[in-house]
Amino acid sequence: MNIAYFNGNFLPKDEIKISPDDRGFLFADGIYEVMKWTSGFFYDLESHIIRMKRSLKEISINWPEEDTFSGFAHKLIELNGLSDKQALIYLQVTRGAAPRTHYFPGPEVTPTVYAFVREFIPSGILPGTGIRVMVKEDIRWSRCDIKSVALLPNTLSFQEAHQKGLGECIFFRNGLITEGSHSNIFFVVDGTLFTYPESGYILSGVTRKNILRIARQAGIPVKEEPISVNDLATVQEAFITNTSAEVTPVTALGSHTVGNGTAGAVTMLIHKIFHSEIAAQRG
Ligand code: PDD
Repeated sequence: MNIAYFNGNFLPKDEIKISPDDRGFLFADGIYEVMKWTSGFFYDLESHIIRMKRSLKEISINWPEEDTFSGFAHKLIELNGLSDKQALIYLQVTRGAAPRTHYFPGPEVTPTVYAFVREFIPSGILPGTGIRVMVKEDIRWSRCDIKSVALLPNTLSFQEAHQKGLGECIFFRNGLITEGSHSNIFFVVDGTLFTYPESGYILSGVTRKNILRIARQAGIPVKEEPISVNDLATVQEAFITNTSAEVTPVTALGSHTVGNGTAGAVTMLIHKIFHSEIAAQRG
């Protein structure tokens, strides 16, 4: 049975009842987080908590119990028998239920807090291989730095990629590659690692942050600068990052084959360090 967390309680997922007046349902007025449990700990829990608090603050949701997240996240793993497995936790916090108005309810209502865990089954992408992605104009708003549950542009775009048998949809804005529908993207050009800088046009990924740290520590030159959509043919390596896909090589960008169509050396080095750090932390 899947035990979820709902407004302070642990209960079977199918017993949870959410009001039809919930602003998450009516307006996508809420934020979320996804963290990975790697058989013993949540990967970079601290950064996820910092980002969750930032997202809440940016849309003025006051969740007084925000510091309970770490505790109930661990409890959910335990209650669902996932302690020695790989799992993902999804947390969503909305502004709460109130009669529908475009302005925020006043006085403030209690936020709705929901979290569930599920076992993580790795994608099955073989080492050295990767995914092919499509590239298209970014149709999202300019506050992509907020981990908002308003993901329709992301899901429509990913659906398009999925229908074409591709692994991700990568966006460009003003002619510059920003990120994917649910991932950040990195490029290697002449030995230097490039990724779009932190701004309202990308989500500041927890994995992105750690990959930048790993690359710098490994002596790989790093530039948090965009790559133009017109320069994709010059890219020698590319990979996407997110909490579930971790470091996934990209072997084709639209009509361009990346490098020789397999995972490149810089990508594989970063992939190896990323996984050895997790293994070392697990002990
Ligand atoms: N998505 N950019 C976007 C638009 C994302 O949705 C995500 C993550 C990332 C990578 O962030 P992180 O490395 O912190 O997971 C970048 C999650 C996994 C999701 O929506 O399920």
